[in-house]
Amino acid sequence: MKKLVIIGASGHGKVIADIAVKNGYEEIVFLDDNENIVECAGFPVVGKVENAENFFGEKIVAIGNAKIREQIQKNLTGVTILIHPDAVISRRVEIGIGTVVMAGAIVNSDTVIGKGCIINTGASIDHDCKVGDFSHISVGAHVAGIAEIGKGTWIGTGAIVSNNVSICEYCTIGAGAVVISNINKSGTYIGVPAKEKQ
Ligand SMILES: CC(C)(COP(=O)(O)OP(=O)(O)OC[C@H]1O[C@@H](n2cnc3c(N)ncnc32)[C@H](O)[C@@H]1OP(=O)(O)O)[C@@H](O)C(=O)NCCC(=O)NCCS
Repeated sequence: MKKLVIIGASGHGKVIADIAVKNGYEEIVFLDDNENIVECAGFPVVGKVENAENFFGEKIVAIGNAKIREQIQKNLTGVTILIHPDAVISRRVEIGIGTVVMAGAIVNSDTVIGKGCIINTGASIDHDCKVGDFSHISVGAHVAGIAEIGKGTWIGTGAIVSNNVSICEYCTIGAGAVVISNINKSGTYIGVPAKEKQ
């Protein structure tokens, strides 16, 4: 029987549970440190995050914060990759463990996606991109070809990263921003064209 342990009983976790059902997981449970949450998307919350290793099954961390996601994933065994059947992924894409790819996402040829990433609903990443570990390409964000997204960077919903652009580690790109030139300093960037938020 395919069993999945989802760490984080959040909205993001719900979406992951749906992907798991579509991928044939027959038993799905959640772990969460909030004792008031007893179920998520119809599946039970059966324990706390620190006890994850005691639960049998493949595992996925469903926590939006990149540093927390990394911290939890690095201590886990049995971490899997989840891809919605309605995502379109080129045959020449590499995807690291712990990454989830949501419905409607498109990833084109020769792109490398690291560990623990979130490629969210309807996001696109074009050819020859590098997406660093634990980064998040939010709902409807678009990354054009030959772009590089640094580790832990969060591309906000509807944002655009133009082609050949490189963004360093641990940046936040605000919703709707358009990044047209390299970003070499970690920080929050907003607007069109994107500028560092003061
Ligand atoms: C960029 C962001 C992180 C800033 O958050 P914050 O630090 O809490 O900022 P605030 O909401 O306090 O706003 C501060 C100022 O920045 C402006 N601002 C915030 N986000 C902005 C954005 N995306 N584009 C343009 N301006 C923005 C606000 O209007 C405000 O301007 P003001 O000072 O003139 O009133 C946040 O607004 C954002 O875009 N988050 C992404 C959310 C997202 O994509 N979620 C996806 C889930 S899949």
